[in-house]
Amino acid sequence: MNILAVESSCDETAVAIVRDGRQVLTDCIASQVELHRIYGGVVPEIASRMHIEAIYGLADQALREANLTRGDIDAVAVTYAPGLIGAVLVGVNFAKAAALALQKPLIPVHHIRGHIAANYLAYPELEPPFLCLVVSGGHTMIVDVKSYTEMEILGTTLDDAAGECFDKVGRVLGMPYPGGAALDKAAQQGDDQKYPLPRSRPGANPYDMSFSGLKTAALNLIHHAEQVGEELNIPDLCASFTAAVSDTLVPRVEQALKQTGRKRLAAAGGVAANSRIRKDILDMAQGMGVEVYLPPLKLCGDNAAMIGAQGYYEYLSGNTGDMTLNAYATKSILGEAL
Ligand code: KG4
Ligand code: ZN
Repeated sequence: MNILAVESSCDETAVAIVRDGRQVLTDCIASQVELHRIYGGVVPEIASRMHIEAIYGLADQALREANLTRGDIDAVAVTYAPGLIGAVLVGVNFAKAAALALQKPLIPVHHIRGHIAANYLAYPELEPPFLCLVVSGGHTMIVDVKSYTEMEILGTTLDDAAGECFDKVGRVLGMPYPGGAALDKAAQQGDDQKYPLPRSRPGANPYDMSFSGLKTAALNLIHHAEQVGEELNIPDLCASFTAAVSDTLVPRVEQALKQTGRKRLAAAGGVAANSRIRKDILDMAQGMGVEVYLPPLKLCGDNAAMIGAQGYYEYLSGNTGDMTLNAYATKSILGEAL
C-alpha cells in the first residue's frame, strides 16, 4: 500500500511516499528554518504562507522521485494535530483535496504518533509493545506504546517541553534558531559539572516532569553574569544545562521500564537527536536487558515519512477521516481534545 503523506505542522513542508508503513520510497522536505531564523523563532503566518506555496510542487516532486504516478497512490495521510493551526490547516486541506481527487482514503495522523513511528522506518524488527521517550519542541512525555494505535501516557512535562528550553537558552546565548543542535555541539566540549542547575520533581506522578525551573535558572545565570560582567564558559554552561535535561528524562524512563517490565525502549522527536541524551539512554539501558531504538538523526526532526508510517497502522485500525476532517492546534496523543 503506497501512502502519500503530508506534514506541515511547524516550519517544514514535507511530503513522502511510504509503502506498507515501513519502506520510504521518497521523503521530500522544504525547510523554512532559514526564513524564520532572522526572527529568532517561527513566525506562524510566514509558515502558513510558505507551506501553501511549497506543498503542491513538493507532492509532484515526491511522485517523480518515487517514479510513481498519481494512480499508484492508495491513500493520503496527513498531520491533523497538533501544531501551528494555520500551518496544519494547509496540509489538511491539501490532503483532503488530494484524497478527493484520487478517490482514495484520507488518514488523519497525530504528529507525535508520527514521531514515534519514525522508529518503524529505521528498525524493521521493531513492533509494539515498547516504551517511548518523546522529546520534541512542543512535547515531552513517556509513552507506553501498547499497540500501533493504543497508547498510554505514563508521564508528561507539566510546563515547558525540553525542546522549548533548548531553544530559549540557545537564543539567549546568541545561537541560531532552533538552538538545540548548536547547544548540543557546544556542550560536547564542556564540563557538565561546572554550573549547578536544578532537577525538579513536580507533582505526585513520578513520571511527570518540569523544565520551567531549569530554564529560568539557566536564563538567570546568563543574565546575572552579563550584569556583573562575568564571562561565562559557554561549552560548560551548555554541558551543565544538557546534563540537567537528561537527568530529568532518563531516570524516569528507567523507572518506567522497571515498573512496566517493557523490554524495548524507543526515543522520538527532535531532542532525541541530542548526543548526551542518546548516550545517557544507552548507558541506562545497558545491563537491564532492554533493547534500545534511537531514530537516526534525519528521522528525529519533522518529516512526512513518519506520518506515512503511522498512517499505515492507523488505516489498518480503521482510523480514517472524511471531507469534514478539521485541523487542531492541540490534541492529546490519545485523540482527545485538550
Ligand atoms: O520534533 P521536532 O523537529 O519538532 C516538534 O515537533 O516540535 O523538534 C524540534 C526541537 C527543537 O526544539 C530543536 O531545538 C530540538 O528539537 N533539537 C535538539 C537537537 N536537535 C533538534 N535539541 C537538543 N539537541 C539536539 N541535537
Ligand atoms: Zn515534530
